[in-house]
Amino acid sequence: MPASDEQTYRPGQAIPMDGLTRHEICIVVNGQTYTLTVPSRRTLLDLLRDELGLTGTKKVCDMGHCGACTALRDGVPVLSCLTLAVACDGCTITTIEGLVGEDGRLTPVQQAFIQCDALQCGFCTPGQIMSATALLRQNPDPSDEEIVHYMAGNLCRCGAYRGIFEAVRLASRIMSGAEKAPPTEYRHGEGS
Ligand code: FES
Ligand code: FES
Repeated sequence: MPASDEQTYRPGQAIPMDGLTRHEICIVVNGQTYTLTVPSRRTLLDLLRDELGLTGTKKVCDMGHCGACTALRDGVPVLSCLTLAVACDGCTITTIEGLVGEDGRLTPVQQAFIQCDALQCGFCTPGQIMSATALLRQNPDPSDEEIVHYMAGNLCRCGAYRGIFEAVRLASRIMSGAEKAPPTEYRHGEGS
């Protein structure tokens, strides 16, 4: 019998809650399938950043207060700092890196954040964009109140809330065809 911190458990098998036990999980992150062995306590955030090198998802409070770590699990926004990696077994995860198309084209939400100058330091921006993306997928034409309510979990210490709100509105209009995409089409890795 191996030591408990070396034991690997499979789905359906009883799991001791010591936090050190390791589990094999299979997840799809940004279209790529990973089979990984993770400790019980490993968060999705640490898995993304430290093991997969996807540092676009930010660690700020690490306590579920700020929304900077927002990623999509099966299309639903989650706070990755409060989500255990083992709870993502069999799930599809999308991070900010996964929004960009293969041609490097930014999404309407990303374009709108640039167009509306919806950031200052930018540290909250990936989480803001992931939440806004989930909102507009669920509700393509949200009211002002619905935007404020949905985005309330994403804090911005720079106070760029006006621009963030306008960016969500603009993205909604672009996606519905009510407004043309911004004249400048940014691509991943390009400066402004
Ligand atoms: Fe997860 Fe702040 S880092 S909510
Ligand atoms: Fe700096 Fe939001 S742009 S925290």
